[in-house]
Order: sequence, then structure tokens, then C-alpha cells
Amino acid sequence: MLFSTTSDLSKRKESELIVLPFWEKKKKARAATTLTAFNRHVAPLLATGDFTGEFGRTSLVYAKEGEKEPRCMLLGLGVEEKLTVERLRNAYSVVAKACQKLGLVKITLVLPNIVELRHVSVDECLRGIAEGILLSNYTFEQLATSSDRTVLLKSVQLVGITSSKLDVVRLCEEIAEGVYFARDLVNKNADDITPTYLGKAASKLAKTLPNLKAEVFGRKWIQSEKLGLLEAVSRGAQEEPAFIILSYRGYARSKDHTVIVGKGVTYDTGGLNLKPTGSIETMRSDMAGAAAALATVTTAAALKMKVNVTAVIPSTENAIDSKSYKPGDVYAAYNKTTVEIGNTDAEGRLILADALAYTLQNLKPTRMIDVATLTGAVVVALGEDMAGLYCNDETLSKQLLDASQETGEKVWRLPLHEPYKELLKSDIADLRNIGGRAGGSITAALFLEAFVGSCPWAHFDIAGPAFTSKEHGYQPKNGVGFGVRTLLNFLQKLA
Ligand code: BES
Ligand code: MN
Ligand code: ZN
Repeated sequence: MLFSTTSDLSKRKESELIVLPFWEKKKKARAATTLTAFNRHVAPLLATGDFTGEFGRTSLVYAKEGEKEPRCMLLGLGVEEKLTVERLRNAYSVVAKACQKLGLVKITLVLPNIVELRHVSVDECLRGIAEGILLSNYTFEQLATSSDRTVLLKSVQLVGITSSKLDVVRLCEEIAEGVYFARDLVNKNADDITPTYLGKAASKLAKTLPNLKAEVFGRKWIQSEKLGLLEAVSRGAQEEPAFIILSYRGYARSKDHTVIVGKGVTYDTGGLNLKPTGSIETMRSDMAGAAAALATVTTAAALKMKVNVTAVIPSTENAIDSKSYKPGDVYAAYNKTTVEIGNTDAEGRLILADALAYTLQNLKPTRMIDVATLTGAVVVALGEDMAGLYCNDETLSKQLLDASQETGEKVWRLPLHEPYKELLKSDIADLRNIGGRAGGSITAALFLEAFVGSCPWAHFDIAGPAFTSKEHGYQPKNGVGFGVRTLLNFLQKLA
């Protein structure tokens, strides 16, 4: 996207549309910017009272020939006192989508009068607007052959700031690129986005960005290193599994090291406990955690963040085959814990357990954060708007919740309720991989906790918001890229 600025309205370049922001005050629209230049266009509309400045509402008026823009959009930002960055994201998402409908590629945004923004700083305001536009300016249409492609915005002129503020916008762009990358990985065919593909993508990224290093291991290594749970899950798959370590050292002098473990099940059939029709169709999204982890580390590297952060991706298909691992059998994890398989569809916790144990033993993590489409139960509890967060460390939990609050990625903390550990007991092994229907997201988290020792650890269960059935404001339908912005925000604050 091409962003440009001008502080002087009269010096703006021509475009297809100019957007004017309004507040809603006592059910009436009040301009959030100086209107003089547009009075003759908008006065007739405002006089009718039809446009009230209500949050997220728009009205279009058309100009005579010879104006710098043929169209003028009035955008409702709602009650001024209620303004937040998240509301700005959603309001400007409406603009981006309206432009897609009209096929517009070049627009001008007059910024709300900044001194009036008491609740939101200038930078935050810009961030909200840029993110609202950028995150909505995405489609995934490469699997369709039809010729009517969505037209995306190409250039946005911002009126009311100087070019020194473009840095803020560029940061948003870099982050949005990371989100698009994660969305694409989730949306593409599972037959294409295999563990091998993810490994190659990591290696390729490491070649293009400084201080980024990739290591990719296959089935042989997984066997010889005795990642027994990943090996068990991968057994039914023709596709070679991969264990990927993508490491960014942006702060070599520091020992601080964040490890993000991403669930990389590139397709989850359920295994021998095969998923039924209605549950299986979206399971190419079961590597959304891996996508978020890879995108986060890559973007941290692209932004030259002053942090050390590593993505660890256990990746495999959970396939059904005569070689598939078996319900009732017992397999040993990397840390020697033995696990009885109660259900082969509870595969995510198995591969994550090995990855967490491996990380703990070999990568000197200061903290581990896993991101996983782990349970249907969390979707029942929280729906597709938000992720569940589990954490064994109050500081880390607060940092992550604060980060998610700022990015607008909704997260709700759930309890690591000790007594439910009982539910994971096995008669024949150290642990069982399922705990029954009740509290299914909690028991999955408790299972993971058994592999993190005393390391500060957080677990995001993103089964709901990673892949959605409808769009939610600036979050698209299907692959959302959930988690990337919150993890980056978290890292930014560590730096
Ligand atoms: N990948 C699924 C979880 C999931 C469900 C993700 C819906 C996205 C949407 C996971 O591997 C799984 O199958 N979990 C089982 C666990 C059960 C067998 C204990 C589930 O939630 O049904
Ligand atoms: Mn499963
Ligand atoms: Zn799964």
C-alpha cells in the first residue's frame, strides 16, 4: 500500500474518494474536522438529519466535475468520548470495505481533528486508522478461477499530518504483512501447506532477513531425538513431519529469550478416532498456531526488534492409515513421560508437549508461549471472537492480556484448575491425553503444563478465532492471522 501525507488540505492530490470523519453528538452529526471546503457538498445531507455520525455509519455525496474527488464519504466515528483505537479500526474497516464494493483504489482520508482526540493520542489514532484499512484490505481468491476479483486499495493519502508520522503507518504495514502471511498459510490447501512446505518457508525467510536462522528436522531426527509423541502422531502420514526452529537474535547481548511454540498440524483428520462430517472440513486450519509463530518471528526480524525470539514448530499431518498411532497404546514423550492415548484426535497437545519439553531442555527459554488450535471446547466456551489464555505466571499473563487489549485481539484468561489434573490420570501410563468432555479446554492446558517445568509459560487456545465462519469487523472470514499482532505487541514492549 502506498501511504502519503499532507498537512494542508488544499495541497492534497486528486483521488477517487475523500473521507470526512464525524462525531455523533446528541443524535446529530458534528464534523470531526474542518468542513469549510466541503460545506456546499455536505450541507444538504446534514440539513436532512439523515446522517447522525453514528459509529460505523457512512453516507456518500457526489461532487460536480472539476473537484479533486468525485465522491465524498461522511464517516460516523460515534460519540467522541467513546472513541478508542479499536473503534477506529472498525470504523475505517467500513471505509475499506465500501471502497472494495465501489472498486476504488486511490482514496484520501481527512484525519479527525487531532487536538480534539483527548482519549487517543495522535499516534494511536493513526495506528487505529491504518490498521483498520490494512487488515481489511485482504482477500484470498487464488483458488477460484472466476475473473471478478475483489479490487483492493492501492494508495491512501492522509490529510492532517506531516510525513514524519509515516513511520507509525509503516510499522502498521509491516505488521499487516505478517498477518497476511499467516492468513495465506491458513487459507491455502493442506495438500500444499505441508510440514515440508512450512520448513522450506522458514528456511527461505531466514535467508532473506538478518539475524534470522532456521533449522528444519525430519522424521529420522524426530525418531533419533526421541520426540516420541510427535513421532506417534506423524506415523499415519505419508507426508514427512517437520520440527522447525526459526530463531531471531535481535539482542545478542541479552540472555532474554522468548520461545513461541506453534501447533503445526497441517491437516487434522482425527486419526483412527476419525472426525465426522461437519468437523473435519476446516481442519487445514490446524496449523494456525504455527502460522502465527512463524509470522511473528519473521516480522520481529523485519522490524529489527531488539529481542531474542524463536518459533518452535512441531508439524505433521494427523492422518488415518494402517500405520496410524492407536487409541489405548502408550507412547513416551521427549522428557520420558509416558502417555496413554485416549483419543487420537487429541493430537495437538501431544506434539506440543514434545516441543515444549524440547525447548525447555535445549533452548534456554526465559518464557514459552504456545499458540494452538487446540480444543473444540474452547470454541463452545468463548465462541469465535476470542482466544482462551492459560498462564502459570502472573507477570506474563498481565503482559499478554495488556498486549491483546491494545491490539483488539480478544483474549479471555481461563483457569489452570489443579483438581482437574485428576481427569488426566491413566491406569497404565503417567498421563492420559484426554480428560473427558467437561472442562475440555482446561484439561488440554493442564496436559501441556506437565511439560513446562517451572518455566513461565502461557498457552493460547485459538481454536475459535483462528479460522472463522464470518467476518468480524476488520477480521476476515476464514484465516484470520490471529495472535500475530498481540505477540508482536508483547515483544515490542520487551524490547
Ligand atoms: N484441532 C482440533 C481442535 C479444533 C476444533 C480446532 C475445532 C478448531 C476448531 C483438536 O486437535 C481436536 O480435535 N481436539 C479434540 C480433543 C478431544 C478429542 C479431547 C476436540 O476438541 O474435540
Ligand atoms: Mn484433533
Ligand atoms: Zn488438531
